[in-house]
Amino acid sequence: MSFKGKHALVTGGSRGIGRGIALKLAESGARVAVHYYANEGAAKDTLERVRKHGADGFLVQADVSRVDDVRRMFGEVKQRFGTLDVFVANARPEAAKFYQKPMEITLEAWDHAMDSQAKAFLVGVREAAGLMGQGGRIVAITYAPGGQRGTWQPWVAMGSAKAALESLVRYFAVALAPRGITVNSVSPGLTDDSVLQSFGDAAVDIARKWHGSGWTPMGRMGTPADIGNAVAMLCSPEASWITGQLIYADGGASLVDTLLPLEIQRG
Ligand SMILES: NC(=O)c1ccc[n+]([C@@H]2O[C@H](COP(=O)([O-])OP(=O)(O)OC[C@H]3O[C@@H](n4cnc5c(N)ncnc54)[C@H](OP(=O)(O)O)[C@@H]3O)[C@@H](O)[C@H]2O)c1
Repeated sequence: MSFKGKHALVTGGSRGIGRGIALKLAESGARVAVHYYANEGAAKDTLERVRKHGADGFLVQADVSRVDDVRRMFGEVKQRFGTLDVFVANARPEAAKFYQKPMEITLEAWDHAMDSQAKAFLVGVREAAGLMGQGGRIVAITYAPGGQRGTWQPWVAMGSAKAALESLVRYFAVALAPRGITVNSVSPGLTDDSVLQSFGDAAVDIARKWHGSGWTPMGRMGTPADIGNAVAMLCSPEASWITGQLIYADGGASLVDTLLPLEIQRG
């Protein structure tokens, strides 16, 4: 798989899953615009690692919950790259901005989740499409269970926003199909070296054991590199017939039946 001569923009490329995606694309030769919000140091570190792969790129700052920022970000991409081949919408605000239960959430917190995911994608895809030719690739990073279940109460705004994002993926897939541009979403399972680390070492340890015990059939949590591989695969020329799809990159975690103890399921 080669991305030599291709230009990519990865939002939230400064750290976590976004960094894993940026590095995988760079490993295969893409020049990468590494987007960040506040953490310029982490973004510089990603860009240095992109360069170690023999690729190049630049840093671009934006608050994706602000339409003007999203448009400015694509303006910078146009100025630096001229064209765009891959747009990965991965950025997600800190939980403090939206993490509130359904009966308590403020409209401001609700809007922040929606604006940073659905509205940012609506505006971003239209900007990206203007820079893309035949063979362009657009990937949205979602967390599908958040939009399908209801037990994680403070996730209501982000779960709803991701569900809207997944819906937009299908509509844009149809709109851009005549131009040979594909639009898909990837839903990672719980991923190490990501936002999870902000919950503290004890929580990370519990999560690793939980997934290692079988709640992820592959027997471990995913890594940013695992998600980078899935995204790179969808962005390859060979994936030109796959569009409008939601791909779970979760080691089989979405196949596990949560109603039964694992011991019974294993037989
Ligand atoms: N981690 C998981 O287990 C998991 C599972 C399923 C899905 N996902 C999805 O994967 C994506 C990445 O998650 P992650 O855990 O890797 O995230 P993360 O480590 O928390 O990183 C978040 C990224 O988003 C950027 N960001 C934060 N607020 C922003 C804003 N207002 N505007 C623009 N960018 C902003 C951050 O930039 P700075 O570095 O500058 O702050 C950072 O690059 C998200 O869409 C998430 O929903 C994650």
